[in-house]
Amino acid sequence: MIHDPNEDGMPSEPGATAGDADASTPTASDAPRNPLHLRRIRSFVTRAGRVSTAQRRAMDELGPRFVVPYSANACDWNAAFGRAAPHILEIGFGMGATTAEIAAQRRGDDFIGVEVHEPGIGALLKLMGEQNLSNIRIVQHDAVEVLEQMIAPGSLDGVHIFFPDPWHKARHHKRRLIQPKFVALLVSRLKAGAYLHCATDWQNYAEQMLEVLSAEPALANTADGYAPRPGYRPVTKFERRGLRLGHGVWDLVFERRAG
Ligand SMILES: C[S@@+](CC[C@H](N)C(=O)[O-])C[C@H]1O[C@@H](n2cnc3c(N)ncnc32)[C@H](O)[C@@H]1O
Repeated sequence: MIHDPNEDGMPSEPGATAGDADASTPTASDAPRNPLHLRRIRSFVTRAGRVSTAQRRAMDELGPRFVVPYSANACDWNAAFGRAAPHILEIGFGMGATTAEIAAQRRGDDFIGVEVHEPGIGALLKLMGEQNLSNIRIVQHDAVEVLEQMIAPGSLDGVHIFFPDPWHKARHHKRRLIQPKFVALLVSRLKAGAYLHCATDWQNYAEQMLEVLSAEPALANTADGYAPRPGYRPVTKFERRGLRLGHGVWDLVFERRAG
């Protein structure tokens, strides 16, 4: 199955149809502003997406309460949520349907959703309003920088990365999020015993995830290879369709070792 986020208002996989276009190529307008940015190969390409009227309304009405502006300082998440509860980070929540469903099931946990795609921010805020969810905060920024700057070491209870862009073509694999360096950063932000849950519907990426996560000494696999889908992760409509067609989905659940 090829997860097709386009059907749900998501940007298509960056680079998948753009020939050899490489979004990390610096542009003249980037250069003087942020030289560090030029060295980083990003896992996404920002594209203008259409924000619907309802999404815009949700952003205007609920954004001030639930969107945490990106900042280069560690955030006091207990203060941001107004309580002390386990903190689960979700990277790349897309249109937020899974995020909202999990947050509704797990009202005792607080979810930090990170996404760069603007219509997705509006869509999740809209769901939060409709379902009266107050245990989600949203950061609209590159998750790598959010982890580096806004999340204190050893502070997270869990991380969700569901159907990250698979970057199908071999020459784009360097853009995949799950790479040893990024996993080391993630692990540094986890508490001992905290979990990292990834899911993908792209077999080649699943194999890479298993290899990279298994090679990280601070992580222990909770399963023998791929994990059964944990009950809190809903089956998305893409997944349901793919499963009907006989395609696979792979979940991986690792835990941070103590010490
Ligand atoms: C294929 S979509 C999957 C969305 C959602 N998790 C789902 O299961 O439907 C991947 C999402 O990750 C987001 N993304 C990729 N890299 C990111 C990053 N470094 N920081 C924040 N969001 C990112 C993209 O904008 C996109 O919305």
